[in-house]
Amino acid sequence: MNPLEGKDIISIETLAASDARAIFDLSKVIEPFAFRQRVTRVLEGAVLANLFFEPSTRTRISFGTAFNRLGGSVRDTSGVETTSLVKGESLRDTARVVGGYADVITVRHPQTGAAKEVADAVGVPVINGGDGIGEHPTQALLDVYTIEARIGEPNGKTIAIAGDLKFARVIHSFVRLLSKMYEGINFKFIAPNGLQMPANVQESVGSTGRKHTMTFHNSIDAISDADVIYLTRMQEERFDDPAEFQRYRGKLRIDRKTLDSIAKPDVMLLHPMPRDSREASNELDHDLDGDPRLAMFNQTDNGIPVRMAIFALVLDVADQIEKTAHPVNWHVPDKF
Ligand code: NCD
Repeated sequence: MNPLEGKDIISIETLAASDARAIFDLSKVIEPFAFRQRVTRVLEGAVLANLFFEPSTRTRISFGTAFNRLGGSVRDTSGVETTSLVKGESLRDTARVVGGYADVITVRHPQTGAAKEVADAVGVPVINGGDGIGEHPTQALLDVYTIEARIGEPNGKTIAIAGDLKFARVIHSFVRLLSKMYEGINFKFIAPNGLQMPANVQESVGSTGRKHTMTFHNSIDAISDADVIYLTRMQEERFDDPAEFQRYRGKLRIDRKTLDSIAKPDVMLLHPMPRDSREASNELDHDLDGDPRLAMFNQTDNGIPVRMAIFALVLDVADQIEKTAHPVNWHVPDKF
């Protein structure tokens, strides 16, 4: 029985912990297909419409790549300016039209609730690739998958989350997913005053009825007892007043010296990317590139098996993947 058949993936709020577990179990099975050891054509003939109305590099390309690696084809929009939304078309109309063309839709949009609006307008499954300051559920799934791959289930662990906790949708989904999958997480929320975790996310942690704790900080020193640190970019595009963003940028930073001097020696450091590497921001310094504590590129790599698993489940082809499997017949480097 596949509980995700035909389902939308809009929010972690409506995803059961058992659904996330099914996605992780299948992601593991799919890894050889994602990491170019084996090929499957199980989605041959299927079409994905990747509707991206906001900037994106990895989410759009990894959704597309994941679909291609299952044998399906992909059609993209990127940016509002190239679509009929600029002619005044409603998102509902756009969605209904695309639902007639594609078997599954992924959507990224600046408005919170936009993915739900698309899902309500179409019969095909819709996957949220980020809706305003709302959620980014597939990012959370690949983040938590990456944590499990490195340290196992993080029950009882201290997880420090630092940066723009108010506007970063990746964090909202991440915290919701951790709190519904595990027991006894010590959440440390580290943000400048004014950018703390929204009340609705705190409430969802509380509503799980599990024994999690939440503490609130504004200095990066609070990472000292963390087993996992998740750092985010200040979400420049979400501030109405650019001067306000200027006040916050560069306030919370991690570089090699910070980790060496404050953090636990075997800490795991995550970042959803993009990092803002401009000098005035630079929340995650390039001097940590190649450092084994930094798991950021494991996250981006894991975007492929996790998104392949999501497509295989919502289109209900997981048990047919093996049928069309064969080895790759092109050169694959040892290291990507
Ligand atoms: C994030 C997003 O778009 O929310 N990017 C991503 O999908 N990995 C994070 C961000 O933009 O800061």
